[in-house]
Amino acid sequence: MTTPPPVDAFTTAVEQALESGSFLRLTLGKYRGAAKDLERVTLRLVTIKGREQLSFVTRHKSRDVTSNVERTQGIAEIRRRLDEGFRSATLLTHDHETQLLFNKRGEATLRRRPLAGNPSRSGGHDREKRRPIAVDRPFLKGLGVTDGRDRVLPSMAAKWKQINRFLEVFAVDFAAAFPGEAPSPRVVDFGCGKGYLTFALHDWLRLRDIRAKVTGIELREELVAGANRLAVECGAEGLTFRAGDIADFPEEPLDVMIALHACDTATDLALHTGIAGGARLLLCAPCCHKEIRPQVRIPDIMRPLLKHGVHLGAEADMLTDSIRALLLEIAGYDVKVFEFISLEHTDRNRMITAVRNERSTRAAAAREELAALKEFYGLRRQTLEDLLGRE
Ligand SMILES: C[S@@+](CC[C@H](N)C(=O)[O-])C[C@H]1O[C@@H](n2cnc3c(N)ncnc32)[C@H](O)[C@@H]1O
Repeated sequence: MTTPPPVDAFTTAVEQALESGSFLRLTLGKYRGAAKDLERVTLRLVTIKGREQLSFVTRHKSRDVTSNVERTQGIAEIRRRLDEGFRSATLLTHDHETQLLFNKRGEATLRRRPLAGNPSRSGGHDREKRRPIAVDRPFLKGLGVTDGRDRVLPSMAAKWKQINRFLEVFAVDFAAAFPGEAPSPRVVDFGCGKGYLTFALHDWLRLRDIRAKVTGIELREELVAGANRLAVECGAEGLTFRAGDIADFPEEPLDVMIALHACDTATDLALHTGIAGGARLLLCAPCCHKEIRPQVRIPDIMRPLLKHGVHLGAEADMLTDSIRALLLEIAGYDVKVFEFISLEHTDRNRMITAVRNERSTRAAAAREELAALKEFYGLRRQTLEDLLGRE
């Protein structure tokens, strides 16, 4: 079979994107091949032991399989996967989306469209100015987000986007939590990892003359040591990292609590610590949800939906975060639940933000709604509710 020209044009576009450093992501979808449970393949650039590689994540109905190949082998691998039966391939770069589509007869077409807000159209400099954080901030280099010439590394493009999106969200809720004030807030970031968001938040506050005391809490001591070294190198006054478990964090006053992608009930521990410490602002992006799913008693009317494991999992995730939102309302917060940004190919990209509102009148209704929800699904316990109930 001769390769149709659109496939050549597509793979050339991939090569050019990799060469120019503008490659963000490639997705193979609309699978019509022989494998029963194959869904899609997503490719990203990763750096492993200092070498850039293409990471293929193959999504099956019940599992993901990851394989990493050298960039040079990547194109051959993409062609091989297309032959397996994927009817669409989408390449996302900093400024374009290029899509290869096959019809039922196997004929290919190629579409290419510029992305809105593309820096090359609006002027890179102006575009940078609109971001919450400038690309030349020193900590970005220290964390390996940018290179020696203040350019975002291709493999860190998603992280860069996440940092900026996080600050956009934070800016709105911070203004609501501290209206018309120049506060000196105590901020705690639970499960901060390397501290990408902790550094960004501290920098954002300091550039606005807000003299915050920001603390990152992280289980892994080597990450804490690295983050503390960088904080000193950058002269990041008021920013420190502590090794420890969220569960052991002492009850102490705090103003802003952050917990992004803390596993399972670690999110509940962090929320509880924030509420108990009197935080005015809580931001969390829950990670995996294991606690509620085994408790769900499927109501008869929901059986056609929830007999499917994938639906039950999604429902349990939604229930967990809805219970958290109701508990926060009962505790006197205005709550928002919305889509955040995900670095991995996963549906777990929800964010919960809560701003304390002394005048909130939601508590009584939220309590009734929570009781009804638990009754409907036969739920017995939820960690945040237990922790709050103990007070
Ligand atoms: C997925 S990472 C997220 C890092 C960072 N918050 C972010 O979003 O970029 C979760 C981090 O939480 C840490 N962690 C998990 N459970 C924890 C606990 N109980 N106490 C403190 N840190 C924890 C892990 O070691 C890991 O570094």
